[in-house]
Amino acid sequence: MSAPAPIERNAKLVSLLWATIDHADELAACHATLFDEPWDAASFQQFLSHPGSVALIARQGNPQQTVGFIVGQLAADEAEILTFGVTKDWQRLGIGRRLLDGLQRAAARGEAKKLHLEVAEDNLPALVLYSRTGFQEQGRRKGYYKRPAGDAVDALTLALSLQAV
Ligand SMILES: CC(C)(COP(=O)(O)OP(=O)(O)OC[C@H]1O[C@@H](n2cnc3c(N)ncnc32)[C@H](O)[C@@H]1OP(=O)(O)O)[C@@H](O)C(=O)NCCC(=O)NCCS
Repeated sequence: MSAPAPIERNAKLVSLLWATIDHADELAACHATLFDEPWDAASFQQFLSHPGSVALIARQGNPQQTVGFIVGQLAADEAEILTFGVTKDWQRLGIGRRLLDGLQRAAARGEAKKLHLEVAEDNLPALVLYSRTGFQEQGRRKGYYKRPAGDAVDALTLALSLQAV
């Protein structure tokens, strides 16, 4: 039997689409590969059922495989990113930037003036991406993230003005 063909890591083959509760299982499976405290499918269903939710999923291949996601929430003129990630094999190809850009635009269209998020202070890839996008530090939550080894890491709260998006 011949070996399976290697996956072509070509970001042009990745499409973004709006996520719905029908994507909850694949979102949960993807989330579990990236985070120490994974969200299960029921959590995704709950967030995606909320009227203010906005979410994008990045997919490639045939059959389609989820390689990234971003889930946000709009309320009045504020928006927040609840979770965001790109699977390890597909990182550093511009997919995270595309997902973030899509959410920013959706939030701005929803009349949000600011986009907020929390990020661990030691998450360098995310911090570089957010800083290059224009997010600015608003505050710090001491020991907010508990790591499996038992140590705690501060969360930085960041915000981006959406006026110019
Ligand atoms: C953060 C994350 C979503 C970025 O996704 P990505 O698809 O790899 O990001 P992109 O390829 O779009 O990168 C955009 C820019 O971010 C910065 N960046 C991304 N990864 C980086 C890294 N490992 N080191 C330094 N800068 C990085 C770079 O400026 C990059 O642009 P460049 O490649 O032209 O230099 C991804 O690393 C991830 O899923 N991490 C694990 C989950 C997570 O931490 N989510 C965020 C929680 S707040």
